[in-house]
Amino acid sequence: MVLRLIVRGSIGSENLSDRIPLAGKSVAFAVGSVAVTLGALIPSIGASSTLAFAVRNSSLEGSNTEVVALGHRLFLDPRLSPDGSIKCASCHEPAHSFSDGRRVSVGFDHRAGTRNTPSLLNIFPGEPLFWDGRRTQLDVAVLDPLVNRVEMGNPNFGSVIARLKARAVYRAAFSNVFHEGNRSISTASVGAALAAYIRSLPRPPNAYDRFKAGQTDALSPQARAGLQLFTGRAGCARCHEPANGRFTDDRFHHSGVGLDLAQNHLGTLTIGAMRRDLTGSALGSAIGGNAQMAALGRFLVTHQASDVGAFRTPSLRNVALTAPYMHDGSIKTLSAAVDAEIYYRGLATGKPVALTAEEREDLLVFLRSLTSSPQSRNDTKQPRYAAKL
Ligand code: HEC
Ligand code: HEC
Repeated sequence: MVLRLIVRGSIGSENLSDRIPLAGKSVAFAVGSVAVTLGALIPSIGASSTLAFAVRNSSLEGSNTEVVALGHRLFLDPRLSPDGSIKCASCHEPAHSFSDGRRVSVGFDHRAGTRNTPSLLNIFPGEPLFWDGRRTQLDVAVLDPLVNRVEMGNPNFGSVIARLKARAVYRAAFSNVFHEGNRSISTASVGAALAAYIRSLPRPPNAYDRFKAGQTDALSPQARAGLQLFTGRAGCARCHEPANGRFTDDRFHHSGVGLDLAQNHLGTLTIGAMRRDLTGSALGSAIGGNAQMAALGRFLVTHQASDVGAFRTPSLRNVALTAPYMHDGSIKTLSAAVDAEIYYRGLATGKPVALTAEEREDLLVFLRSLTSSPQSRNDTKQPRYAAKL
């Protein structure tokens, strides 16, 4: 069997789109050859690099049991941190819709970060990743936590790759999936496996999806009243767009949350950020260790003054499971988050939204209808199909 794959144009954190003549083109490979020798495609880069390809045909994505199983194993393996203390699942827990229930995450060496952990169930192809959208490719974004000093705490990718290579079980699993012999374990293949696992996570329909699909009684009359407010008078749907069931517009907006932290030093902070001009994993690591810098939001990526304090509109799917709220986790409950949004969004447009206590409750009931059944607790354990790895 042969798959058609699209060349995406990056290796690890390095964007190579300009140098890859095949970028955006479709290329045929045998199933299993998810990573190929880059030199075979782009002679100018040399034969030693490998490039992992994401399978773009969504009917095939996630169906590759072996790569998903390998990604799952990596996701649960604390050996990905230098002292074996932190795994991806330490902060992305199934019971919290793959977030962690903390205000800000706590990672390697008990270091607290500066941002609230987002759910991994709301990632869709092509959308901006992280609260400031500093990444757009999932197979690259999944590598950043490995070298983030407040997350997994590795000094570089090389040390992670060396630890994986030292284990026979990984040597066998990677070469089985990526067919590159002893070059099969690379940052690109680790990224491809972790991304495949995240894409494969089951996302059962919620009550709202069933309602949209024609099952009118899936939403109670109160939730329907909430939906009407959400799309109507309360103005929430302007940014949390319900049309595609994702409840985000993939854009960045000011939130009125957390900027007080940076308010008195905006000049120094913005100039400092522009001078350092960090991107990708280096930016992620710097943000994790500096709350004032983290509060600059989208500005860190675009360096546009209007983006200071702007953050990605979060999807509201499973929002009842992902407390606390906002990029800095500063709002503890869903009801307080809704109150803050009603107030701030009205303030920002100059048209205050007046809702009765009953109407606020309707909105809350509607937001709770966006919860899918919680992931099975078993998801924190090795699945049966991964046991053979
Ligand atoms: C110490 C806690 C912690 C660990 C460990 C951790 N993450 Fe995260 N993750 C976070 C936080 C916090 C963010 C948001 C960071 C930001 O936006 O600046 C995040 C964001 C993400 C995102 C982007 C989600 C989105 O919607 O934008 C992905 C993907 C992700 N993590 C995958 C992983 C993977 C894969 C691992 C393991 C290799 C991992 N994470 C380990 C805390 C953690
Ligand atoms: C102008 C765009 C916009 C509008 C209108 C808007 N939101 Fe938001 N919403 C955002 C952004 C951006 C954030 C993230 C802010 C942050 O983290 O600082 C957010 C965050 C939230 C959160 C927290 C989610 C989480 O995972 O942390 C909830 C809940 C929420 N909004 C509900 C609402 C409701 C209810 C309305 C209508 C009353 C509404 N929003 C109107 C853009 C908007």
